[in-house]
Amino acid sequence: MESSNSKPENWQAYLVILLLPLVVRLVLNARYRSPLANVPGPYFASVSRLCHAYHIFRGDNNTWTRALHERYGHFVRLAPNEVSVSHPDGPALILQAPLRKADWYRVFALPDYRYVNTPSLLDPKVKADRARLFAPAFQLSNLLRAEPHFDAVLGGLLDRLDEHAAAKSPMHLGRHLSFAALDVAGEALFSRPLGFLAAGRDLGGHLAQSTALNRYAAVAGHFWPLHVLLVANPAVTWTGLLAGGHVLRTVRAALRRRRGGGDGDGDGDKGDARFDVLAHWMRAQRENPEALSQRDVEAQVIVTVSAASDTVSCEPLFASTFAFPIPSLVIPIDVFSHPFPPTSSANIEY
Ligand SMILES: *[C@@H]1O[C@H](CO)[C@@H](O)[C@H](O)[C@H]1NC(C)=O
Repeated sequence: MESSNSKPENWQAYLVILLLPLVVRLVLNARYRSPLANVPGPYFASVSRLCHAYHIFRGDNNTWTRALHERYGHFVRLAPNEVSVSHPDGPALILQAPLRKADWYRVFALPDYRYVNTPSLLDPKVKADRARLFAPAFQLSNLLRAEPHFDAVLGGLLDRLDEHAAAKSPMHLGRHLSFAALDVAGEALFSRPLGFLAAGRDLGGHLAQSTALNRYAAVAGHFWPLHVLLVANPAVTWTGLLAGGHVLRTVRAALRRRRGGGDGDGDGDKGDARFDVLAHWMRAQRENPEALSQRDVEAQVIVTVSAASDTVSCEPLFASTFAFPIPSLVIPIDVFSHPFPPTSSANIEY
């Protein structure tokens, strides 16, 4: 009787006694029995990814790794299964060689693991085969056919600038440049703007969420099972809660219209789509159904929209910030959020 009374209170102790040898074993294996055991680096980094993840999350991964290279040399073990290389031969031997990419890149599968796209493919041959199917759509001659439509989007952006200048009201320039980039991406991909400029606001919280998600994804790629469990799974996609809710809906609507033949969404613009990027990719899918599924096409459209909003909007942003400082215009440029105070000017800001 007495022993059965004391047991429930001690269960934590039993758990520790049971798990401790396992943890010690994992740590010792990671540290001493790994093929990377001879590569120098901080002790904690060699036994757990948490150390690297912490620096990625803080945004000082770049200065952290540089300091480690100064201390340990050209090869530093950053994590149980990762070595950072600063040797001048590194780029040719690692980046240019057709090596399998790190598992981290699976995190590009958006919105969940079923949506495999070229950035998330790890095998160089598989990736090259798929990229070959997608590449023709990006030929300059193809893209230039949409130029008048890009011009119309940019005209809309200039109109907004004029409106704000006339009203002398502050304008979030960075956000509007991103709106324009997203709308141009929509025009290029499926002959329709995504609607951000016309709405003049962050539809579905796309920008706000992708800022937060960038930081999250940089870390989450290293914890794939947890990422799939919590975020990148069909159930979460179904709720439409996460970034791309509006974008995802728009992409899906465009695909539905196309599959139904022409435009055909009943709003009177039947068949107004050009032979755009999506048209190229749908043709590639029809011609190579064994190599490319309809979902693969959808995945590629989604990741391309995200890439456009993140990277394309940087260019006009920097151009407008540094090349055309117009003191007479009151345009507060509050582009990057600072959820955490930066610890050094060299840090990455998400
Ligand atoms: C960390 O910084 C190094 C440069 O020091 C860079 O090569 C690497 O891609 C960065 N990793 C992440 C996850 O940001």
